[in-house]
Formats: sequence, structure tokens, C-alpha cells
Amino acid sequence: MIFKRKKVNLDIDKSKLPKHIAFIMDGNGRWATRRGLPRTVGHNEGGKTLLKIIEICNELRIKAITVFAFSTENWERPADEVKFLMELPSKYINTYLPKIKEANIVMNFIGLIEKLPNNIKNDINKAFEETKDNTGMILTIALNYGSQDEIVEATKKVANECLNNKLTVDQINKEYFASKLMTYNLPDIDLMVRTSGEIRLSNYLLWQLAYSELYFTKKYWPDFDEIELKKSLIEYQRRNRRFGGLKGE
Ligand code: FPP
Repeated sequence: MIFKRKKVNLDIDKSKLPKHIAFIMDGNGRWATRRGLPRTVGHNEGGKTLLKIIEICNELRIKAITVFAFSTENWERPADEVKFLMELPSKYINTYLPKIKEANIVMNFIGLIEKLPNNIKNDINKAFEETKDNTGMILTIALNYGSQDEIVEATKKVANECLNNKLTVDQINKEYFASKLMTYNLPDIDLMVRTSGEIRLSNYLLWQLAYSELYFTKKYWPDFDEIELKKSLIEYQRRNRRFGGLKGE
């Protein structure tokens, strides 16, 4: 356990938890600006919130969580903020990797990782290599990630296989296409949580969220805590998931 926590008494049905939750950790900048602090302080607090959420999800035996740490659009931000955001995962890997290993968590990364600076790539590889044989929750960090680019890249792979006669056009189906996405090794996303009151997907996991429940909260990410997470899980359990059919009607 990394953090001391108060006991939270919110009734969630442990038999109906989502297998995979995706988070858009939004509102770090506004959280800091409201307090007259630099935006980077907000990102730092956001990192601490992430650690707590990882720990709680792991305790709940959620199979996978995926978090949006840096989008391909985030390069447009001021250079000092980009640098800070880029270095944050390395900072956390270097500090918390032993705890992550001990918690049996697998660290996975999606995004254009090969385009990142070498020192960051090295830390990512270290985190991946040292946790890949773990058997617990898969923590996927989306870094330099954009969903439309991911879909275009998958399309190119499939198109090349057709051109090289490894695949016929008729063999292309949803499952095959999904196997070419960066999330090929992850379970379907049951729940997507976005903080800070913004109600959009921002080029995040567009294919993968096709049937997910979407949950939006006004809380800024640094204020998202165990109570807020459990509220999202209760709402998830309340919804009647029909997958386009009439199940439960
Ligand atoms: C969006 O808030 C948040 C980000 C662009 C970065 C999220 C990153 C973290 C929470 C840290 C991740 C740490 C690790 C270890 C992976 P924003 O800056 O867009 O906030 P705003 O909308 O209020 O400006």
C-alpha cells in the first residue's frame, strides 16, 4: 500500500465490476490555476491521484485500466509544460516501480513511443520488461497517443497484408482489425471516466469505446478519489448494458 486511506463505505457489487476502465485525467491545469499555482503543480497532483486510483482498482481486482497521460495534440502546449508532462511517467517509474512490481501489476504503454526521447523510452522499456511476467492488473499508459493515428496505422498494416497476399479482403473483420490496434492484448473497455466536466472523447480509444459506458464528472482529476471512483462504479452497475440488443427489457 502506497497511501494511507480512510475507509469508504459505498456499496458496490464486487461481482459486477468492469473488467477494463479507461480514464481521461482532465482538469489538472484548472485545478492548479484556481489555486494560483503553476499548471505543472496540477499535473504533479494528478500523478498522485493516479497512484491512488491504481491502488484502489488493483485492490478491487479490476483486470485493466488505461490512462491518457499525453496525447499527440498535447505537443501544442508551452515547451516547459510539454517537458514536465513528458518527464512525469519516468519520474513515477523511477520512484514507484518496486511497489508496482510488488503489487503484481503489469505496465503497458500505447502511443507513438518510438518517437519519444531515448531516456523516456529506456524508462518505459524498463517498466515493461520488469513487470511483463506479472499476473495482476494491466496498467496501460497512453503516451503520445492519438486514436485516429492508431486506426490509420492499423489500416496500413491490414492493407499491406492484402497487397502482399497474406490476407484477402474478405478475411478482414472486426476481430482481425482490432488485433492490429495498439490495444490488441487488452480486454474490451467497459467503462470510460472523464473528469473536469468536459464531455468529449478527445481522440481517445475511439474504436475501443464503441460499446463502453461513458461517465463524466465535474471533479478535476486531482480531486478524483476513492469516493468518486466508487460513484462511477455504482453508476456503471446501475446502467442496463444492452449492446444494441434488448437484454433486460
Ligand atoms: C489533462 O489536464 C491532463 C493531462 C494532459 C496530463 C495527465 C497526466 C497526469 C495526470 C500525470 C500522469 C502521470 C503518470 C505517471 C502517467 P489538463 O492539463 O488538460 O487540464 P486543464 O484542462 O484544466 O487545462
